[in-house]
Amino acid sequence: MKKVAVITGGASGIGLAIARRFIEGNFKVIIVGRDTIKLRAACKTLGDESDFFSCDLADLTAIPGLVQQVIDKHGRIDILVNNAGINLKKPILDVTDEDYQKIILTNQTSAFCLTRSVAGFMQEQGAGCILNISSMASVYGLPYVIAYTASKAAIEGMTRAMAVELSPAGIRVNCIAPGFIKTNMSSVALEKDPERKGKVLSRTPMGRLGKPEEVANAAYFLASDEASFITGVILPVDGGNSIGF
Ligand code: NAI
Repeated sequence: MKKVAVITGGASGIGLAIARRFIEGNFKVIIVGRDTIKLRAACKTLGDESDFFSCDLADLTAIPGLVQQVIDKHGRIDILVNNAGINLKKPILDVTDEDYQKIILTNQTSAFCLTRSVAGFMQEQGAGCILNISSMASVYGLPYVIAYTASKAAIEGMTRAMAVELSPAGIRVNCIAPGFIKTNMSSVALEKDPERKGKVLSRTPMGRLGKPEEVANAAYFLASDEASFITGVILPVDGGNSIGF
């Protein structure tokens, strides 16, 4: 029986690359996002082993129903990738309470709620794998992304706490910390800010932005049985950005 993977934010960027890699690796893939048109188009390119559910994950009340719908249709969830995320680039003093809460809600609280719902089914199955996506923002102090940084640091702490609590149920929990990867999100943050882009590249020993496929390969490894004794790790996929001088 094929493993079933749910990938949030799977219609674009890193999430879509993970979906492609998982299908190549013989998983069935369910992508979740807000935009039905984008999700349908992504599934067309992914092929018959893909499906989608439309859900705004910032609406926490919708999450248990979403998980139940996936289980009713596909029978199980073996892998959950908490990839959906939003960024906001603003100086600290301009960030409103609403701005801050929106980022935390989307990037972190929804990942917690979805994991809690999915982990209940994984516990019954006796096995499962959760993969969170953090960011270099949780490693060093990046200016102008205060809420994003807080949300991604929380994702890393949550990864370790979840790994410890869910291991006895056979559920592994890991995290990937991507460096600067060429997607829409990073284009918005970097292309209009050549100084920031120059700084990113100057402290990335490999001297380039990453490709979504490079994050996807790491995600596939961590989700596969090859990683059966790995839990609670934060894996940088960053061309050395986190250790760059
Ligand atoms: P992206 O903007 O292409 O992907 C984000 C996805 O999340 C989109 O498909 C979007 O529709 C979905 N999403 C956002 N809010 C949602 C909501 N409320 N409900 C459902 N879906 C929602 O950007 P990218 O770059 O692929 O980002 C994917 C993840 O990787 C994010 O968590 C991001 O923080 C993280 N990341 C990206 C880096 C980069 O350089 N591109 C670096 C480090 C982390």
